[in-house]
Amino acid sequence: MANVAVIGAQWGDEGKGKVVDWLASRADIVVRFQGGHNAGHTLVVGNQVYKLSLLPSGVVRGKLGVIGNGVVLDPDALLSEISRVTAQGLSVTPENLRIAENVPLILPLHSAIDKAREVARGAHAIGTTGRGIGPAYEDKVARRAIRLSDLAEPEVLSHKLDELLLHHNTLLKGLGAETFDKQDLLDRLLALAPKLLPYAEPVWELMDAAHHAGKRVLFEGAQAVMLDVDHGTYPFVTSSNTVAGNAAAGAGVGPKQIGYVLGIAKAYTTRVGSGPFPTELKDDTGRLLGERGHEFGTVTGRPRRCGWFDACMVRQAVKVGGIEGLVLTKLDVLDGLKELRICTGYQVDGQVLKRLPASIAAQEKAVPVYEVLNGWSGSTRGARSYAELPAEAVKYVRRIEELVEAQVVLLSTSPDRDDTIMLRDPFAG
Ligand code: IMP
Repeated sequence: MANVAVIGAQWGDEGKGKVVDWLASRADIVVRFQGGHNAGHTLVVGNQVYKLSLLPSGVVRGKLGVIGNGVVLDPDALLSEISRVTAQGLSVTPENLRIAENVPLILPLHSAIDKAREVARGAHAIGTTGRGIGPAYEDKVARRAIRLSDLAEPEVLSHKLDELLLHHNTLLKGLGAETFDKQDLLDRLLALAPKLLPYAEPVWELMDAAHHAGKRVLFEGAQAVMLDVDHGTYPFVTSSNTVAGNAAAGAGVGPKQIGYVLGIAKAYTTRVGSGPFPTELKDDTGRLLGERGHEFGTVTGRPRRCGWFDACMVRQAVKVGGIEGLVLTKLDVLDGLKELRICTGYQVDGQVLKRLPASIAAQEKAVPVYEVLNGWSGSTRGARSYAELPAEAVKYVRRIEELVEAQVVLLSTSPDRDDTIMLRDPFAG
């Protein structure tokens, strides 16, 4: 049995929660390897709705959850999420949650910088979640981050805070925002230490032992390929690599252990935040997709921008993300539309491109080239086999497979976990 990595193939919010939950129930260990509490997964289990941001979905299914070193961890966000799910009846302890001791921490100053910079960008704002994700990754790369293991070393912590504040207070002052007091931060971190350190461990060792014991691992991606800091619509991206290749570096395992790579895509496209979106619909159809699909951000509650399925972009995500099989979600949202469009390329300066250009100016100018397909009058909602789908819906799925050059291995036809058409078991490799 292979391990499985799940990543988003568009701009996030593809409905990973349901798929990850389904896969988590069949895995032994669920690992987060990038991102932070900018992610949001909604899991519906029985009559409980769990909103997870940082906790790996496995904890809901009684599996071991691991937060890898590739994540940026906000201690307050984690502790309040643990309290929230505990109040819902779950138990999160060092028995079922392990955190990489080398994970970088998000401090209150990161979110302050994130927000102040967004304000300063004005009309050019990225539309970040304001949770300090970007500034925390910057500190990691700049080698001044506070890491979980530092909480056990008050002297190291004190020295690192000096360096951190020299940098950040200067910036905050320049941005006209409030600065941070060292002693206050030090006290806060030392108070957090006994709550967090029991979860800390060299995760790479745990992963190595799991590998040798033949455990099934699910690598749970957050955000999506088009928000990848290298491969996405830069600079309107998040600050981590969201592609499957990063599951290895972000969890401390070798690349061969990633296993089967599953990409998730909606049957149409959505995006939150700013940035290019060639197939965006600012008309009634766009509004209809938003209403039917309940397209509001899980983390920030912002309405999502909606548009046609962009096969050109998803094909690119398949290639750079290493996606071997695709899960198509929310097909039922398209029920009853007379006509559907799929983007197969872009017109840019009189040329037709079969990829999204790297330049942001060219991305902004890209005019989609559409293929028009007939819609279907019947319902796809709740279908559990291809035979239950209207013929035009099957054609739509098949055409997507051809254009993105990946097989649709799972089709999700309603938020219910059982309303899924499975054509291939991802854990079979
Ligand atoms: P950041 O990750 O908060 O820095 O935000 C950068 C961009 O990524 C913004 O456009 C966010 O809206 C977007 N983003 C971050 N996390 C998610 C997510 O989980 N789903 C969808 N978009 C996200």
